Amino acid sequence: MTSKQYFDDVAQQWDQMRQTFFSEAVREKAYAVAGVQAGQTAADIGAGTGFITEGLLRRGLRVVAVDQSAAMLAEMQRKFASFAGIDYRIGEAESLSLPAGAADYVFANMYLHHVASPPAAVREMARLLKPGGKLVITDLDEHNFEFLRTEQHDRWLGFRRADVRRWFTAAGLKNVAVDCTDENCCAQSSCGCQSASVSIFVASGER
Ligand SMILES: C[S@@+](CC[C@H](N)C(=O)[O-])C[C@H]1O[C@@H](n2cnc3c(N)ncnc32)[C@H](O)[C@@H]1O
Repeated sequence: MTSKQYFDDVAQQWDQMRQTFFSEAVREKAYAVAGVQAGQTAADIGAGTGFITEGLLRRGLRVVAVDQSAAMLAEMQRKFASFAGIDYRIGEAESLSLPAGAADYVFANMYLHHVASPPAAVREMARLLKPGGKLVITDLDEHNFEFLRTEQHDRWLGFRRADVRRWFTAAGLKNVAVDCTDENCCAQSSCGCQSASVSIFVASGER
């Protein structure tokens, strides 16, 4: 099964699954690090069913929501039917098919550990930023819970913060920082015999 097939399959249950994995405090931390302001434009990459997008809309931003999975985006569209200001796009990590330099902010929550090449994905997200725009990524610290790879289609078992910092810098971003969110991502294996609790970092950089 490909990652796209996996997320197409779980699209209708994703919101319930997500609530068991991590809380809204993660996105609050991402918005605070970015310093989001009403009236600006954000891209939500690996947007899924709109966890990050939702809070941005409530804060008065316009959002371009990008994902590989049409089913995840369809679920978001159903939920946010009454909201204006969202542009839904099918896109792949290394070629997001969005114009360069158009976004004030780019967010990606729990996306990077699913892509084939994290440095290339960071570079592509950085490309979307206006000068002075901010990239904010929330994702997992390095861990060794293999069942997340086999059962939830994770491609990378989290990341070393030094690597993430290096990828941001190589993508031409400045004021790069990688900090704790003080939140964890929690999951149980299907046999019930393993429980993961993995800390979540917030990485940020400015174009
Ligand atoms: C774990 S979900 C997170 C969804 C959402 N950001 C959230 O926090 O609830 C990962 C999302 O990234 C998308 N994704 C994974 N690999 C991708 C790729 N190579 N290109 C575009 N989207 C991808 C998946 O389809 C899925 O919707």
